[in-house]
Amino acid sequence: MNRAQGASELLRKRAERVLAGGVSSDARRLPNGTLFVDHARGAYLYDVDGNRYIDYVLGQGPALLGHAAGPVVEAVAAQAGRGISYSAQHRDEVELAEALARVVPSAEKVRFNSVGSEAVHGALRLARGHTGRGKVVKFEGHYHGWLDPVLYSVHPPVDAAGPARRPQLVPGTGGQQLSSAADVLLAPWNDIEALTELMERHGDDVAAVIMEPVLCNTGVIMPVEGYLRAVRDLCRRTGALLVFDEVITGFRLALGGAQEYLGVTPDLAVFGKAIAGGMQLSAFTGRAEIMDRISSGQVAHAGTFNAHPVAVAAARATLEVLERDRDDLYPRVFRLGALLADGLREAARQAGVPLVVTGPGPMIQTYVTESDDVRDYRDFAATDLAASARLHGLLMDRGVNIVPRGLWFLSTAHTEADVHETVAAAADALRALGTGR
Ligand SMILES: Cc1ncc(COP(=O)(O)O)c(C=O)c1O
Repeated sequence: MNRAQGASELLRKRAERVLAGGVSSDARRLPNGTLFVDHARGAYLYDVDGNRYIDYVLGQGPALLGHAAGPVVEAVAAQAGRGISYSAQHRDEVELAEALARVVPSAEKVRFNSVGSEAVHGALRLARGHTGRGKVVKFEGHYHGWLDPVLYSVHPPVDAAGPARRPQLVPGTGGQQLSSAADVLLAPWNDIEALTELMERHGDDVAAVIMEPVLCNTGVIMPVEGYLRAVRDLCRRTGALLVFDEVITGFRLALGGAQEYLGVTPDLAVFGKAIAGGMQLSAFTGRAEIMDRISSGQVAHAGTFNAHPVAVAAARATLEVLERDRDDLYPRVFRLGALLADGLREAARQAGVPLVVTGPGPMIQTYVTESDDVRDYRDFAATDLAASARLHGLLMDRGVNIVPRGLWFLSTAHTEADVHETVAAAADALRALGTGR
């Protein structure tokens, strides 16, 4: 089955002449073919060749209300007409911060940035400034943006990564400022004994323990029962701040993010992606006594575009819908995700493909693996990643767009009919994968 790709191919050739690697973000280099989007609306993407895709990438997560959601588009247009960027204070940033303080359990005070990587940077600097300590614990397989101090051991080659329970820090890129490695300690996730041992050795130097509270950059993996609470207690005992990177889970898993959904409150939290319906806005939030290190001038934080008026308007419109309709919207997205997961499982069973589907609903993950227990990076790395990449291509050819590593984001714009159409396309793709294996 082949998509029309003539216009995309022409653009790919032009892009390769002028964009390094042909793309503007490494994540857009697809394992199969190219995708040049012409426009997007609701649950659909349309490419420059006129192909329609049911979209489960949603701009890597942000379009929780679907693409070009009416209230967001209206808010953006109205604000653009009133001034695009002031780099000055405005009423909407105060009202947005008030909304965050209302809905996010850990958020007493807020600072805004533009993208997730920046807000992570702000939170970790603040953690160091507050505790007077230098080190940060991160977990293998967790992604916190593309900046040097955290770009370690996201998807390291397993043969270079040391023993699973005492993983070694592996740099993420050429050109990385490797002096930052001295300030990063690495732990396996979902393993409280391993973290406790690490904290016994280094706890006095640790400013922050940062994690994705539901791991979404390495499969979609829930914390095991009691794990987050145990990490919370360990941080309290050792004086390290617990930082939840909710750039994916924020507003998606629940209005108050994973911290609301899982009932564990961090000291600081970072948000991005779904906060602003597709505009570039991020935030870090936390307890007032910590956040006030910034206002007292002890910890610096700045940015020309912080609390950008158009992005803030988009976020206000998004939160207004989510807050007003939360009792309807969230259960619906969970239900649709479960319907999709069940349909994919059944389609895989019929095709004889060992597909494991996990995730709470607003995001789900498909792995090609015989194992039924994926609980950390090493388990993820042991799945058939090449088959997952092939499945991504087979789905694209059938009008379904997912994140190539097997991640699917749901939006409030998806319908049951979309899910049924997706499952039918996936059944065909899985049959093709099964016969090609
Ligand atoms: C959990 C998490 N944190 C941070 C980031 C970085 O956000 P951004 O790409 O907006 O800089 C991402 C991006 O995918 C992410 O998934």
